[in-house]
Amino acid sequence: MPNAGHRRAAIAGLRAIKIAGTGVSLPPKVVKNADLEDVVDTSDAWITERTGIKERRIADPSIATSDLCAEAVRNACADAGVDPSDIDGLIVSTSTTDTLFPSTACWVQRKLGIKGMPALDVSAGCSGFLYGLELATNLIIAGAMRRVAVVGGEVMSKVVNWRDRGTCVLFGDGAGAAIVVPGDGRSGVLASNWGADGNLAPILYQPAGGTQMPATRESVDGGKHTVHMEGNTVFRHAVVAMSTAAVQAMRDAEITADDVSLFVPHQANMRIMEAARERTGVPREKMYSVLHKYGNMSAATIPVALHEARTEGLIRDGDIVVSTAFGTGFTWAACVLRW
Ligand SMILES: CC(C)(COP(=O)(O)OP(=O)(O)OC[C@H]1O[C@@H](n2cnc3c(N)ncnc32)[C@H](O)[C@@H]1OP(=O)(O)O)[C@@H](O)C(=O)NCCC(=O)NCCS
Repeated sequence: MPNAGHRRAAIAGLRAIKIAGTGVSLPPKVVKNADLEDVVDTSDAWITERTGIKERRIADPSIATSDLCAEAVRNACADAGVDPSDIDGLIVSTSTTDTLFPSTACWVQRKLGIKGMPALDVSAGCSGFLYGLELATNLIIAGAMRRVAVVGGEVMSKVVNWRDRGTCVLFGDGAGAAIVVPGDGRSGVLASNWGADGNLAPILYQPAGGTQMPATRESVDGGKHTVHMEGNTVFRHAVVAMSTAAVQAMRDAEITADDVSLFVPHQANMRIMEAARERTGVPREKMYSVLHKYGNMSAATIPVALHEARTEGLIRDGDIVVSTAFGTGFTWAACVLRW
């Protein structure tokens, strides 16, 4: 949870960058809550009331995270009017990597047919896109890069336990990307902060498959390769961390709730989003949600929401957009952007 140490990672003062384009990739298969009634002991009414989710996208078994990320980057590049080979940095935020090594970012390069630029993964769960945006912003401000693709993508359906009703109903698959370039002084990050508390790692994690618990017959039979989560604990920490980070970023940006054009929180549960929003003072009508359509796509929720809000004409140049996120780790991040 944000504490005194969290201050150290807070940056205020305009960092002039611009999001030159956005794009998404969403699998065509729609799975409605009612469809899950055949899978686990649940109901549309329970899922709707406790989470706000109505349906989610589920990828075909042949699809890996890099497929969704590559398509999202391609679409974001087209939106920005650049070719994927013109990007000089590729940051992929994901918890559902293609392989343990190499990085999913390298698989994305291969699928885009591009090479040369640094490509790396960010493992920060649902905070991953904002972590990636923070890295891209600072690389651009340092003059190290001029066109960075930041993509959050997940195939959560391949790591959830489809026998655990407490988790499988929450997640969905998808990817969203942004092309980040230097700004001309009008747009940019007004303030941000990010942090983590690894002491809480076992509250939400995938136990097996890494060096702590390599894959064995027992690990597979024991369901250790799927999401393990203490939902109530995550819920409580998420509300506090997301709202604290957002309030601090807004304070550092010297803006009030009245200045905010759109509040785009990580989309995990409508009750978490509402509670976080309320603590920031931003009115309900300024909160943007795609949760009902896509569920929790982890690192993909914020870039997908930003893209859809832009497409609907809800984000225009000069608008102030506040995003805040929380995820496995635990990690958190908030960002105040002038678009
Ligand atoms: C998971 C979550 C939706 C559960 O909601 P909740 O209101 O906290 O519900 P509880 O866990 O207290 O469970 C209440 C009851 O519903 C049941 N339940 C859980 N999932 C259910 C489902 N899909 N359908 C029907 N009943 C369900 C529980 O078994 C429990 O039953 P009991 O009272 O008989 O024991 C909620 O805790 C949450 O969203 N947590 C955060 C998860 C998250 O965002 N993770 C990603 C991190 S970004």
